[in-house]
Amino acid sequence: MNRFLQTVAGLAFATAAALPAFAADPTDVIDYRKHVMKTLGEQAAAMAMTLQGKAPAENFTLHVQALANAASQALVAFEPNVPGGESKPDVWAKWDDFSKRMKELEANTAELAKLAASGGAAAVGPKLQSALTCKSCHDTYRQEKK
Ligand code: HEC
Repeated sequence: MNRFLQTVAGLAFATAAALPAFAADPTDVIDYRKHVMKTLGEQAAAMAMTLQGKAPAENFTLHVQALANAASQALVAFEPNVPGGESKPDVWAKWDDFSKRMKELEANTAELAKLAASGGAAAVGPKLQSALTCKSCHDTYRQEKK
């Protein structure tokens, strides 16, 4: 059994007994927010491919929905004040601004998902750049490790 399946099996036992108490250690906190942010990155890249005619266009709306889903998971993932990963300490020092930006991303992507469901890529296209505020937040709050 690979590690992922072992983890899933472990979780299945744990949930059968009772939901495990949530007590993340610092490494888990960092891993968790990275998983969520990677999902955003992967779904944005996949969505772009569908727009460029390099991948199935019928998946466009699903990718926008997945982006909105992941964006809605992000804020709580950053809540524990655990510096590390590629996060600058300012994430927590300027939490009001950081959380405002993350909520904006959540609202923007939810709006895109609505537009995608009704009007597809033609409706989303013009709003895409202003809605995806990824870079401006990264420029301020992320210290990319090479
Ligand atoms: C409100 C701020 C903010 C917004 C908005 C934001 N990010 Fe991030 N992102 C971060 C921070 C901070 C990190 C560093 C996380 C860490 O390693 O601790 C990060 C990390 C990442 C990573 C690296 C994950 C890894 O492998 O370690 C990717 C990919 C990413 N973001 C993609 C995106 C995409 C795509 C968007 C827009 C759709 C986005 N982010 C929007 C703050 C933001």
